Amino acid sequence: MTQIDWKNLPFGYFKTDYNVRSYYRNGHWGELEVSSSELITMHMAATCLHYGQEAFEGLKAFRGKDGKIRIFRMDENWKRMNNSARGILMEEVPWELFHDAVLKAVELNEKYVPPFGEGAALYIRPLLIGTGPQVGVKPAEEYLFMVFVGPVGPYFKEGFSPVKMEIVRDYHRAAPRGTGHIKVGGNYAASLVPAHRAHQDGYASVLFLDSAEEKYIDEAGPANFFAIKGNTYITPASSSILPSITNKSLQTIAEDEGMEVDVRPILVEELTDFDEVGACGTAAVISPISTIIDRDTTHGYHFCKDGKVGPVSEMLYTKLRAIQEGEAPDKFGWITFVE
Ligand code: PLP
Ligand code: COI
Repeated sequence: MTQIDWKNLPFGYFKTDYNVRSYYRNGHWGELEVSSSELITMHMAATCLHYGQEAFEGLKAFRGKDGKIRIFRMDENWKRMNNSARGILMEEVPWELFHDAVLKAVELNEKYVPPFGEGAALYIRPLLIGTGPQVGVKPAEEYLFMVFVGPVGPYFKEGFSPVKMEIVRDYHRAAPRGTGHIKVGGNYAASLVPAHRAHQDGYASVLFLDSAEEKYIDEAGPANFFAIKGNTYITPASSSILPSITNKSLQTIAEDEGMEVDVRPILVEELTDFDEVGACGTAAVISPISTIIDRDTTHGYHFCKDGKVGPVSEMLYTKLRAIQEGEAPDKFGWITFVE
């Protein structure tokens, strides 16, 4: 294996040695299979290709100073994957299978778990797809659940440095009673055009508004939104955003640090009242936001005076990373060790 430049890894696909797979056929999940192929073969009428029966997850494994590998909150990703499965009528994945698949995929690719202190992690991508054929719009009778992994660096190339985002109203990510709250491919398809435009215009990401009224902040394309006002951590309540496990963890840490947590609809105009704002997610970790431009009004909201990350975002980031990398005790029971 050629030497990996851990410090300069992008967030992207990285070929590793193995992935693991299980097929649901004839009413039951089959044995976990190990594969060294990056390819899957499937029926041309598979429902994932035609009717969007596809859900995925994203979680990370970290190597501590002690050399041990820690997986962060995998039970939450399992619950969310099954919530996604129920939302688009796919077969749910039993806990044992999810657990064994994630651990096996990490163990088999252990050499790709970045060393401690490089600012990188092993990204774990579980995937659940309808593989059985249908031409009428119906759920499949056969499914594939698989897990692949790869080392990654920060999602936004800035890392833990402030990024710029833009509020858009001419595109919606998800409808109020649609699929925004689950992690299915269609939501990401809807975000591709506005995200591409935002990148071309020099923004790290789009900030989507609630699609019913276009008044409230929903979330960034691949991450939740949060704000800090005094001693309060504020994050949107919305039926069309993905319940972020990172956001939930930051709320727990904030409360543990004696902060208030307020989950409620956030009006765009409230941006003028906040001390700090940021995006959070497994891939993004915390991305502090320095500037938000409203594409329609061209109004700008500015944070991070002198380009510096706000103290509360800094504190939350440091505490979260410390738990993930084993530098702080796992007091909330979030870690699974890979033996
Ligand atoms: N929002 C969206 C749309 C996402 O794709 C993700 C990534 O999973 C998140 C938020 C962050 O969620 P989590 O913290 O569970 O990774
Ligand atoms: C994650 O944070 O895990 C994501 O899946 C975000 C993005 C890559 C879709």
